[in-house]
This record gives sequence, structure tokens and C-alpha cells, in this order.
Amino acid sequence: MARPILRLSPETASRIAAGEVIERPLSALKEVLENALDAGARAVEVRVEKSLDQAFTVADDGSGIGPEELELALERHATSKLSALDDLDRLATLGFRGEAMPSIAAVSRMRITSRTAGHEAASFVAVDGGTVTERGAAARAPGTSVEVRDLFYNTPARRKFLHSPGGELRAAIRMIESYALARPGTAFRLVVDQRERFDWGAVPTRRERAAQIWGQRHAEQLLEATGERSGMTLGLLLGLPEHARSTREGQVFLVNGRWVQSPALSQALRHAYGNLLPGGRFPSAVMWLDVPAERLDVNVHPTKREVRFADDDLVFSFVAGTAAQPLTSIYPPFTVVPGRQGAEDPLPAWAEQVRERPMVDESQLGLPLSAPAAASTATEPVPAGAGVHVSARMAAPEPELWQLHRTYILAPVRGGMVIVDQHAAHERILYEEARARLEGQQGTAQGLLFPALVDLSRAQFDLLLEVGPHLRQLGWDLSPLSAPTVVIQGVPSGLRVEDPGRLLQDVLDGIGEGVPTAQDSLVERLACSHACHAAWRAGDALSREEMRALVDRLFATSRPHGDPHGRPTFVRLDLEELHRRFGRT
Ligand SMILES: Nc1ncnc2c1ncn2[C@@H]1O[C@H](COP(=O)(O)OP(=O)(O)OP(=O)(O)O)[C@@H](O)[C@H]1O
Ligand SMILES: [Mg+2]
Repeated sequence: MARPILRLSPETASRIAAGEVIERPLSALKEVLENALDAGARAVEVRVEKSLDQAFTVADDGSGIGPEELELALERHATSKLSALDDLDRLATLGFRGEAMPSIAAVSRMRITSRTAGHEAASFVAVDGGTVTERGAAARAPGTSVEVRDLFYNTPARRKFLHSPGGELRAAIRMIESYALARPGTAFRLVVDQRERFDWGAVPTRRERAAQIWGQRHAEQLLEATGERSGMTLGLLLGLPEHARSTREGQVFLVNGRWVQSPALSQALRHAYGNLLPGGRFPSAVMWLDVPAERLDVNVHPTKREVRFADDDLVFSFVAGTAAQPLTSIYPPFTVVPGRQGAEDPLPAWAEQVRERPMVDESQLGLPLSAPAAASTATEPVPAGAGVHVSARMAAPEPELWQLHRTYILAPVRGGMVIVDQHAAHERILYEEARARLEGQQGTAQGLLFPALVDLSRAQFDLLLEVGPHLRQLGWDLSPLSAPTVVIQGVPSGLRVEDPGRLLQDVLDGIGEGVPTAQDSLVERLACSHACHAAWRAGDALSREEMRALVDRLFATSRPHGDPHGRPTFVRLDLEELHRRFGRT
């Protein structure tokens, strides 16, 4: 049942954020779409002709507007959604000010056609720059169509500063997707220049709506979290760390069903990902947050895109804590596959042919397969035939791994490949190993054949005295001689150390670098510095065994996606993407 449209009292009206409601074509579409949703639409269709500023129409099957109220809907501060200021505290609708329609009407040519369930026919009103030019009867099923043409035609200055039409349409699509996520039970259809862009029927769950938007495969990879606290409820679909973007465009925040921007929510999300992501990367996520209406201020900005929470800190910890749960157990959704994976993961015919080739004699390539590090170093770059050669040996269930430019390791995984950064990956491994050693299980030392004497600086020596017990935990076997000289008898096991003195100095220097923060204990900084300086570097040649150990150990760590500084350790390349780029469909 449609509620009557009432004029707000001047007092109420003046309290409502005034200013520019329609700052760009996207805002006009957003307001009209929000009205359709407020009217209880179960299906919404958006049509765009050429560009949003030239013409768009939103048609809904909601409650409709009666003929006697059509023109009232175009008056400022006339709304069916709010009758007193107190209602703002109980707000259940997206609109509340009665300002959007008149604002759009003032800067466009608009036509509203509407019919309520109780009327036999629809009626329409046409407005040109705010002035009614035509009214009458029309044929239409119950619901409302709002057509907006020639936006900003009478404000040439504003017209000049419009974004590119393509960019505006892309932004509009993101907005529609966001509301589609907010209302899985509502069908959404978009038609641009007579071409259907999408047609999403109503679905029972958020995840199914996500699958309509992003495809089944991607939706399946999203992590899910839900939470409840102090009257708030939270639902999250979180992208994997490798889905993170360099902008916040992959983030959708729906607060009490409203599509908003929120630096605070974005930060809470980022906090949850911690060092799974490097700096400057933003996780992709959809967040459904519901808070008691009286704890939320939606009347902050004329575009209604910002909200203010009465309990900022509570919201932050609630969101960060809930989002962190599925992330702590995160593990790559794939494993490095051994050569003969054909049965489960059918390869195209061409790949099978490569496999069927007779085995190449090792000596022909001059590349012994089980080469120690030094031997594989000598043959870089890898001869072109090497891939074929290794493929031919694939009867042995071992992953094929390649080192690229002595910096990256290429490893096949189901459905594609991962490219591992050898330094970042080794850092992650050594960091976790160091933390484990520092927190209990003392590391073993590998004794040096010839103990090394190192002259430290005074500052390094003082630091050494302070962290000496921790270094011993890590596996260092050290004894101070006369200050500032120290004797190294052994280094932590499992490392390829060429210059133990240099490593010790680097590790000590690394502890002192940067500004320590409260969470950042001495042990934490030692572990980071140890990992950073003891890890393989770009330029180090690795043997097959070393590569295999590196990849295996990386994916056995608790957070394989990033090094301790948050830089990514690997990127994934899907076979689908390769097929697409080579024009194979
Ligand atoms: N698609 C629609 N279906 C039914 N009623 C509508 C529709 N669009 C607008 N209306 C009616 O017109 C009124 C004015 O709309 P308008 O968008 O200007 O204000 P509002 O939604 O109440 O508040 P706000 O300015 O915050 O959006 C609404 O309160 C509603 O009663
Ligand atoms: Mg509105």
C-alpha cells in the first residue's frame, strides 16, 4: 500500500542536508533506482540510450504513485517516507528528504508514468527544467517508469565537467551491481542501446546473486563470514588476497541496505587482511552491515553516499574481527600439480602431444635433470627444448618447476600456473620458521668449518648483547670476543650462507631499521630481519630440489600469500586467461 506524500514542515526540511543532490548523471540514476527499491519493486529494469546524460529510464513494479500525487512527488520536501524529524531515527527507506525528484526535474526533461494497484489506468506527467509541460493518462501495469533526458541541458557549466560517458556508465553498472547485491530477491535488468547487458532474476541468497554478477567460478572462491554484536549484524563475501586491487573499486559496502562509501569500513577490512596483502592493495569484498537505525546517521551528505556511526570503534572492531576469521585459515585454493595430472584436469590435445613425444636424451640438452645448484646455474638461460624434455619425463609424479631470470619460479597448478617470487616466498618461510624457533623449539646450528671473526660496530655489538639469547634460539652459535669483535662458530641450519659475518651484521642492522611500533616486539623485528637477509635474492640460481622445497614450504606456511612486509609472494595465472589471450575459446 502506498503511503500518502506529505510536505515536510519547514523546520524538518531545513534540517535535512541541503546542497547538491544531483552532482553527476550517476547520482540521478542512483536516486531514481533507490526510489524504485523503496517502492518495494520486485523487478527493476534500467535502460540507457547512448549515455546516461542523454537518456535513461528506470521501470519498476512497485507500489506506484496515484494520479493526484504525481506532481506532488516533484515538489521539494514532499515525501511519503518521513513525516517528522524523529522518523530519521527509524529510517527503513533509502529516501527521506523528498528532494531527489525535484532536483533531477530541475536540470532535465523528465517524464513519470505511474499506476498504483488500485487504479485502472496509469497517469503521467512531463516536466521540462522543473516546469510541468504535459499531463494525462497512459497505459501501464502497476508500477512506475521514470525517464530522464538531456540531463544538465539547462546548466551548461555543469555539462562541461561531466566525466566521460563510458566511465559514467561503468560507474553506473557498479552502482546497479551493488544494489543488486543489497537485494538478491529483486530482479535487475540492464539494457544499453537496445542491447541487454544483464538480466538477473530474483535469487534466494547473496552468494547466488554474486554468482550472477561475477560468474560461478569466482563466486565459489569468495570466503564467507557472518557476525552479530550489540544489535548489529554483518555478512561478508571476501575476495582472496590475489583478487585484491590497486583501488577500492572492488569493495561494496551496504549499510542498512544503502550503498555507501566508507573509509572506516574500508580500513577495518584492510586491517583484517593484515600482512596477507602488500601496502597499496585493497581487498575486494562485499559487506552487508545492519546497525540499529538510531545508531546510524544517513543525513551527512546531499548525495547520501556517506554515513556516520554512533559507535565508530565498535563497528571497526566488529568488522575487522569478523572478516579476519575466514582469513586466518586461508590457504591457496590449489596445489602444485605433478606432471601427470591429465585425468582430472584434461589438457588440450596439443599439450598431450607434447607429452607423448619420445623422451629426449639428457645429454642432448646438456641439462642433467637432477642438477645441483651450480650445474643449473651454468646453463641459464634454460634451452628452449627444456620444457619439452621435462614434460616427456612427466611419468614421475613430480611438479615441473622452472626458474625465470633467477627471480621467479613458475609452477603449474590445477587450471593454470603460479609465478612465485623466490625472495618474497623464502622470506615468508624463514619468517615463520624464525617465529617458531623464537617461540620455543630452538633451531639447530650448522657448524662452520672455519669459525669466522667479525668486527661489529659499537652499536651492533651492544645490540648483539641484547639479542644474543634470541640469536641462539634461531640457531646462531656465537661468542663475543673482546668488544666489538665476535666469533661465529655456527649459523642457523638450512641456510646457504656465503658470508656469515655479513649476514650477522645485516640482521643486526635490520632490527634497528624503521620506527618500531607497539605491536612490533624485538622478537618480531628480529624474525623479520633474519628472514629478509637470509632469504634467497633475485639473481640466486636455485636447483630443482631447492625450487621444489621452496614452493612446498611456502604453501605450508600459515600465510603463503604475502611476505612479512605484505608484498605478494606469488601471482596466479589462469589457463582460461591464457586461452583467451591466444584466442582459443
Ligand atoms: N518509483 C517510485 N515508486 C513509487 N513512488 C515513488 C517513486 N519515485 C518517487 N516516488 C514518490 O515520490 C516521492 C518523492 O521522491 P524523492 O526521491 O524526491 O524523495 P524521497 O525518496 O522521499 O527522498 P530523497 O530525496 O531522500 O530521495 C517519494 O517519497 C515517493 O513517495
Ligand atoms: Mg528518493
